[in-house]
Amino acid sequence: MWWSLYLINSKIEDTALSRAEFVFNTIETTRLWNARHGGVYVKLDGQTEPNPYLLLSDRDLTSVDGTELTMINPSYMTREIVELAKEINELDMHLTSLKLRNPNNEADEWEKKQLLAFEQGKAFSREFFDNKNYFRYMKPLKVDASCLKCHADQDYKVGDIRGGLSVSFDMSNIINLESKQKVYMIAMHIIAWVTLITFSFFFITRSKRYIKDIEISKNSAEDLVKVRTKDLQKFLNATQFSPAAITITDRDGLVEYINPKFSEITGYTLDELVGKSVDVLNSDNT
Ligand code: HEC
Repeated sequence: MWWSLYLINSKIEDTALSRAEFVFNTIETTRLWNARHGGVYVKLDGQTEPNPYLLLSDRDLTSVDGTELTMINPSYMTREIVELAKEINELDMHLTSLKLRNPNNEADEWEKKQLLAFEQGKAFSREFFDNKNYFRYMKPLKVDASCLKCHADQDYKVGDIRGGLSVSFDMSNIINLESKQKVYMIAMHIIAWVTLITFSFFFITRSKRYIKDIEISKNSAEDLVKVRTKDLQKFLNATQFSPAAITITDRDGLVEYINPKFSEITGYTLDELVGKSVDVLNSDNT
């Protein structure tokens, strides 16, 4: 049972990890899509303001029909998606770096530690907080050729670590799901144990009764032997002191027993006659 509970616990960790990986991969792909377009334009509709940290001359455009457009770089796009994700999925994400272009993107303590570890070659980080109620995952974002359009001035080369994206979420949904599985699993174990114990109990009482029956019949057989032995003893005594000569032969007429009177009369001892035919007595040797 402990093994099954251990498996469920490690399943909680696996579920959290694969969820975080999935979110990270989706965001990374979306960001790359944006970067490979060199940034994408959206309408200035009051929701999105021009990015003051995006220093490209073509950041703001006006279309032929007079619509005002502004360029959204991958990082800006990520922030807007993060706001939406918080509303819809209760997911928190944060894009950050050790070499900031926008000081508002500063890493928290945990993220800083992970970014330093990524520089040392660590592939990704994951950690549970608050008694496994909160999960954090972080993976580095590497420089793609498309990033250099806006980040070349920071001395990056393709393949360098540009920063990282952390994905964090509350674990209660996953834990609730797994708790149900735990209750179900414990119930199954209890049912199995009760069934096993009941069967063993029946088996043991059955065996005990069987052994008792055997003992009873053994005792009555012994009693019978005692009675028969007593009878035989009486008979032997009777023949031993009988004034008549007695022989006992088997079916083939071979001597099994003679009494003392018989020996006295014939002169044969029991040893001489055992196994021989009584006819011996009628032969010339008599
Ligand atoms: C169109 C320009 C542009 C492109 C292309 C671009 N970035 Fe950025 N990036 C920016 C700007 C501007 C900021 C800072 C302002 C902000 O946060 O929006 C930024 C911020 C970031 C940050 C947050 C940390 C910081 O410095 O503030 C990371 C990480 C990042 N970019 C990674 C990348 C990666 C990786 C690529 C390539 C896949 C990429 N960027 C492509 C313009 C761009």
